[in-house]
Amino acid sequence: MSSTTIRPRLRIAIIGVGQVGGAAAYGLILRSVTCDLLLVDNNIALRDSQVHDLTDVAYTTKSSTRIQGGNYHEAGQCDIIVITAGSRHTIGQSGLDAASRNVSIVRNVVDALCPVRPDAILLVVSNPVDLLTTLALERSRLPPEQVIGAGTFLDSARLRALMAGRIGIASNSIDVYVIGVHGESEVAAWSTATVGGIPIDQTISPEAMTERAELEEQCRQQGRAIVQAKGSTPFGMGSVVASICASIALDKRNVKAVSHWQPEYECCFSLPVVLGRKGIVRNVEVPLNEEEKAKIEESVGTLKKQLELVRR
Ligand code: 2OP
Repeated sequence: MSSTTIRPRLRIAIIGVGQVGGAAAYGLILRSVTCDLLLVDNNIALRDSQVHDLTDVAYTTKSSTRIQGGNYHEAGQCDIIVITAGSRHTIGQSGLDAASRNVSIVRNVVDALCPVRPDAILLVVSNPVDLLTTLALERSRLPPEQVIGAGTFLDSARLRALMAGRIGIASNSIDVYVIGVHGESEVAAWSTATVGGIPIDQTISPEAMTERAELEEQCRQQGRAIVQAKGSTPFGMGSVVASICASIALDKRNVKAVSHWQPEYECCFSLPVVLGRKGIVRNVEVPLNEEEKAKIEESVGTLKKQLELVRR
C-alpha cells in the first residue's frame, strides 16, 4: 500500500482586487502557486470582472489555478489571506490621510474575516505596512508567526538590483537586506552584506562602495517615484506576494526580509526570517553594527508613536 498522503487543495484569498490585488493574482496564477484563488472586493462588479479576466489568464497559460469570487467569511477560511485593500495611494493625498484611511480599512477587513481559520497565514500588503501588520495581528488574534507584512522585501530586491548595476555582478549573487520600518526610515544592513557569500568589504573595492547612502536613497526614491506616477507599485508588489505565497505554500524555507512581530519592541517591522508552510518557521539573527541598530531604534520609536495615536 502506498503511504502517499493526499494534501487538501490549497486556497489563497486576495482582499482588494484593484491594481495591486489584480497583479498579485496574476503572479500567483502564472506560477500555479495555489489550486484555488478567491477574490474579494466591496466592488462586486470589479471583483467579478477580475475573476473573468484572470480566468482567461489561467486558460491561456494552462495554469492549474481556479479563480472564484467570494466574500470575507469565505476568505477567512482560506490557507493564506492576502490583504491589498487600500494599496492605491490617491495622488495628492497626504501620507497621514492615506494611513488613517487604511487603518480603518484593515480593521474592518480583519473583523469581517473573523473567525479566521486558526492555521491561516495573513499577509498584509497595504501601507503603512508595519503599522497595519501590527493591527492585523492584534485584531485577528492569530499566532505571531502566522501574520506577515510585505515589509522591506521589495526594497531588498531593489537594492540588490541597484548594487548589481553599480558593481557589475548578478543580483542573485548579492545578499543585502533592507530592514526596519518600510519607507523613509528603512535601513540597509550593509554590515551583513555579502557578494558570492563573502563579506562585501572583502569583495568590493572601497571606492565602488563609497556611494552606499546614494544607493539607499535611490532605492527609496524608486518606490516613491512609481507611486507618484501611478498611485501604486502593482507589478513589484504582485510578484512579492507571489513569491511569499510560494514560499509558504511549497514550504520552501527560504530567507526573506518581511514585517513580523518583534516581541522586544511590541510592534511589527522587517527582519529576515525563514518562511515555510506554517508562516515564519525561524528568525534569522542579523548582527548589525551600532549605527544600524541606532537607526532601527529611531524608526521603531516613530512607528510606536503612530501606533499609540491609532489605538486611541
Ligand atoms: C513600494 O515600496 C509602495 O510600498 C510600496 O513599492
